[in-house]
Amino acid sequence: MNVTPEFEPMTESAVRFADEVRAGLCRSGQKTLPSKYLYDPLGSALFDAITLLPEYGLTRAEERILRRHASEIVGHLPRPTLVSELGSGNGRKTRWILSALCVREPLSYYPIEISRAALASCESELSDIEAVSIVGVEREYLDGLREVASLRPDGSHLVVLFLGSTIGNFDRGADARFLMGVRSFLQPGDSLLLGTDLMKPLDRMLTAYDDPLGVTAAFNLNLLARINRELNADFDPRAFEHVARFNDAAGSIEMHIRSKRRQVIHVMGDAYSVAFAEGETIWTESCHKYSQQSITDLAALAGFRKQAQWVDSEWPFAETLLVAS
Ligand code: AVI
Repeated sequence: MNVTPEFEPMTESAVRFADEVRAGLCRSGQKTLPSKYLYDPLGSALFDAITLLPEYGLTRAEERILRRHASEIVGHLPRPTLVSELGSGNGRKTRWILSALCVREPLSYYPIEISRAALASCESELSDIEAVSIVGVEREYLDGLREVASLRPDGSHLVVLFLGSTIGNFDRGADARFLMGVRSFLQPGDSLLLGTDLMKPLDRMLTAYDDPLGVTAAFNLNLLARINRELNADFDPRAFEHVARFNDAAGSIEMHIRSKRRQVIHVMGDAYSVAFAEGETIWTESCHKYSQQSITDLAALAGFRKQAQWVDSEWPFAETLLVAS
């Protein structure tokens, strides 16, 4: 009897991943890969390790601001309040805001994440805060926010948290369009708490994205390993190296993966191949660094005005409370 091998159809997200990898690797000129694909389970664990590195002060700076100023931040927010967060991660930083808010009244918190695992870890991290009911929303950010906005009770005040300088990973122009998208689901007077990393001396920025232990290098090169695992490619990660460089004109750290030699990579078996010259790079991420003025300008472009701002003194990082105009 002939047994037909079982054929597992690709999920919609696997098809999108395959299409975007092909488009990025086969384009003429600079090869690119979308930074969102850095965060598979191993990439997310490596990112968590990055946040513990002495050279990467961003996460600790934001946590200090939220811990020290939570009551003051919450004091600016009208009630009753409904809180939603774009990309909650493990929820650790959000604890300070939720704890300060729920002293006033019980509230609902809607973390929005595409990763079910991230939602589960956020829910377990924050489950001990009484008076906060957590409703995870497993969607893309703007789809999730549309859903949350449709659930808000009349007269409630919606507060959106967008922490961690994730806005800095958008392409220039796309950051303003994204904030306009957020604004479109808010009512005048609603709030957006936006975390942004600020410009700092060059060597400090470069070491934050090229640490001596090589954790950021592993985080970046894991993208090649992921493509091998999920798209049956034959990248040898040892034949590539991590590069972090500052793009002065854009005001961004760029992460690249550089080919150490001339080589040809096969993807999806032999479906297509990609040739690399020695020294050629794949651009995997941009990490924009803001000035206090550029945050206000970006916010204004998207229909928000600045209400208050807190800046960490050890690691220049700004938490800005914006109000929908
Ligand atoms: C998630 N994001 C804000 C990080 C950043 O600093 O731009 C991603 C990162 N990439 C390398 N290190 C950290």
